Amino acid sequence: MRQSFFITIEGGEGVGKSTFAKAFAKSLVPFLPTAPTAAPTPLIVQTREPGGTAVADSIRAVFSSPPPGEALIPVTEAMLVMAARAQHVSHLIRPALGRGAVVICDRFADSTMVYQGIVGGIDWNWLESTNRLATQGLEPDLTFLLDCPVEVSSERSDSRLRDGQGEDGAQRYDIGSRDQHEKIRAGFLHCARLAPGRFVILDASKSTDELTADALATLRKHAPELLLMAARS
Ligand code: TMP
Repeated sequence: MRQSFFITIEGGEGVGKSTFAKAFAKSLVPFLPTAPTAAPTPLIVQTREPGGTAVADSIRAVFSSPPPGEALIPVTEAMLVMAARAQHVSHLIRPALGRGAVVICDRFADSTMVYQGIVGGIDWNWLESTNRLATQGLEPDLTFLLDCPVEVSSERSDSRLRDGQGEDGAQRYDIGSRDQHEKIRAGFLHCARLAPGRFVILDASKSTDELTADALATLRKHAPELLLMAARS
């Protein structure tokens, strides 16, 4: 039975996307069949953007740490994330979906609309059409937007910076002003309003366990056939 399902996770800095993505992927393992290989591999692929393939990870390195003295301008950022996405979709996401996997991706096209469009001021229509080119028209089946008041997410991302977390310093917007964080939050909520059938907003003030339970309940509603496997196995 083909299980393929494409889930993206979006939200501003400090909302806990990465922790949630890991916990959510783990929570799905018992529900999904294993791949017919010698080592049983659950058909769950967890990935992130920018990145996810060797070339896309190299682009992430430039995006997150450009050589000193040469700041990236918004149009360059947009082209970098689009190029990384094109590689990611064609070399990792589409093949995984083709094998029937559930792909869970931390950030995707909506992040570009918010960070490069709403914050960076790059033309919305250009971003939409370039996203279509980069994704070959692939859209997520479901997008979880982790949303919480900026005071909560800023406190988390400040403590992450203090602790020196974030393995590659890719949190380009962590050090943004309060206004910028509000703009990012409003930007994601705007994207959610534009695609209400695809977006599910989760309250990121909740604990990871509660969020995971909410996400599983959503999946039960949106894709009952995925989780029904549990009953059969
Ligand atoms: P993250 O690993 O915390 O999600 O950080 C990735 C950074 O990259 C974050 O600051 C948002 C930014 N970003 C963009 O600006 N545009 C994009 O299209 C993507 C995917 C990420």
